[in-house]
Amino acid sequence: MQSKRRILLIIGGGIAAYKCLDLIRRLRERGFSVRAIMTKAAEQFVTPLAVGAISNERVFTELFNLDDEREIGHIRLARDCDLIVVAPATADLLAKMAHGQANDLATSVLLATDKRVLAAPAMNPRMWLNPATQRNVAQLKADGISFIGPAVGEMAERGEAGPGRLAEVPVLIDAIERRLAPRDTAAMPLAGRHVLITSGPTHEPIDPVRYLANRSSGKQGFALAAAARSLGANVTLIAGPVALPDPAGVTVVRIETAAEMLDAVTQALPADVAIFAAAVADWRIAKPKSEKLKKSAGSEPPALKLAENPDILKTIGHRSKDRPRLVVGFAAETENVVANAQKKLKSKAADWIVANDVSPETGIMGGDRNTVHIVTRDGVEHWSDMHKTDVAEKLMVRVAIHLGQQSADIA
Ligand code: C5P
Repeated sequence: MQSKRRILLIIGGGIAAYKCLDLIRRLRERGFSVRAIMTKAAEQFVTPLAVGAISNERVFTELFNLDDEREIGHIRLARDCDLIVVAPATADLLAKMAHGQANDLATSVLLATDKRVLAAPAMNPRMWLNPATQRNVAQLKADGISFIGPAVGEMAERGEAGPGRLAEVPVLIDAIERRLAPRDTAAMPLAGRHVLITSGPTHEPIDPVRYLANRSSGKQGFALAAAARSLGANVTLIAGPVALPDPAGVTVVRIETAAEMLDAVTQALPADVAIFAAAVADWRIAKPKSEKLKKSAGSEPPALKLAENPDILKTIGHRSKDRPRLVVGFAAETENVVANAQKKLKSKAADWIVANDVSPETGIMGGDRNTVHIVTRDGVEHWSDMHKTDVAEKLMVRVAIHLGQQSADIA
């Protein structure tokens, strides 16, 4: 039986420290042992008593504590683990680590360790984006520290949003597991494949505060990314503005406009498979205003002149250099679903089109379920109504089988 994998969790002093309780619990459920060190600031957010109760281990807080040193010295603490996880890694803790300071137990252990260190930053977005923090992070990366997050989103403080949220617990666990056990990914059906997925709507600015958009939720694309990842693929997910957390283990590039999406897709190539699940806006505002449009009494409402957006699927489908071996489009239709999908298969040079009926009465757009038809050059497969995650899993299995067959044909 595999012996328990040991995590030394260094909890920094930020509001996200409370998430460590859930992290410890989930890690223990997966058979990890978790020993925690808390900084003084961390104790302002969670108590050593709570951390000790959840981890079922003694919690270490003091550098100069005779009892602790007698039981397990800080040098042994630094070595008696398989991985050190710093979460939340605050701006202050990162700064100390980058400069090799050792003025408390957490920083001394980090300086004394010969183990790998994974840092999960969490702080106010401005603190994260501050050049000083970015300099420290660059230094730490150069020193071999790896990072997970921060995620982008709402902060605990009202009205604050941006990069700075602690990565979600499942994402942290995936990152920890990947660092600890070079998984037997070779045996997974999409091992070694790069799968590129677009998802969500695009926002096309009218002026600095207004935009054109659509009702796409991104659920199907995010489910596809998670499914591809679970089959062992390296996944790049290019996502428009949606309120969904990054799927664990997936490289997520967040963009706003169709032009940015095309740019991100092109930069992410080469890929073995590209799946275009995004609801890209067909048009953008020809000349978005740099200042907010103002109403003025008695004058006509502004006329919005539109310009056509690039068709990302079509561009990639027709690409001669770097064209992914399998290009899959989605077709959201309100009538003649299959016939329209067949036209798109040709015009966009896709290999498959996943067609669905998005008439409002179907509830598909924004909903959790989907009824799809897989249109290929060989015919049409009608799938029954199912949850979007099931559609995603079934589709990724089909992708894996297809690539497997292609590889066999080549061999
Ligand atoms: O909007 P339409 O029905 O043409 O979308 C069909 C497919 O083309 C979808 O896979 C969508 O992601 C893709 N598409 C795109 N870029 C566009 C429009 C659509 O990649 N500008």
